[in-house]
Amino acid sequence: MTELLAYYARRAQEYERIYAKPERQADLAWLRRRLGELLAGRRVLELACGTGWWTEKVAPHAAEILALDASDEVLAVARAKAYPPERVRFTRGDCFAPPDCGRRHDALLAAFWWSHVPRARLEGFLRDAEAAVAPGALMVFLDNRYVEGSSTPIERRDAAGDTYQRRRLDDGSAHEVLKNFPDEAELRQAAGASSREVAVETTQHFWLLRYRAA
Ligand SMILES: C[S@@+](CC[C@H](N)C(=O)[O-])C[C@H]1O[C@@H](n2cnc3c(N)ncnc32)[C@H](O)[C@@H]1O
Repeated sequence: MTELLAYYARRAQEYERIYAKPERQADLAWLRRRLGELLAGRRVLELACGTGWWTEKVAPHAAEILALDASDEVLAVARAKAYPPERVRFTRGDCFAPPDCGRRHDALLAAFWWSHVPRARLEGFLRDAEAAVAPGALMVFLDNRYVEGSSTPIERRDAAGDTYQRRRLDDGSAHEVLKNFPDEAELRQAAGASSREVAVETTQHFWLLRYRAA
């Protein structure tokens, strides 16, 4: 198990507190609305679904969602939520080796996952993610922007350019977590190599990238 995975397994029960930060509420409402619009009627493959916070928000709009995470602990929280009947399935799996679903999904969603992908693995991750969904599928990623006073401070940057935060959990444990904050140019460049219709939208706290897979 990776350190990142162990951290999120331990955080499962307290994870959704992050969505209660008062200063982020307006931006989160906007994101929910945008995801509902973008993913309406689509067959969605959701990577790193975590506790299903976004799965629950998108489910009323999507045709179906297959939601994947590598942690049994967060999947247990996600599975306990209520979804429209027959529309949502969960599976344990690795974002870096997405399952073969016959390329039946016409959209891919990954919320707050991009920031945890080491820069050196980003291109390979995107290539494999695109290969897991239908040709021309809509790729949707969203994540945090760094906001002084709201974001956990960055403690260090390594030689590859990856940045790290030190986070504490309720049990007193401390964890160093890789958390990158790409700017718009980096997002466009990462998406651009093999894609079309790239669009980046930002709010104060979040970015939302979408493009069509090749
Ligand atoms: C920041 S959380 C995002 C959860 C959810 N998408 C959200 O936005 O609330 C990152 C998630 O990635 C999962 N994770 C970590 N490494 C993974 C991997 N290699 N494959 C799949 N999921 C992984 C963790 O278990 C955690 O649920």
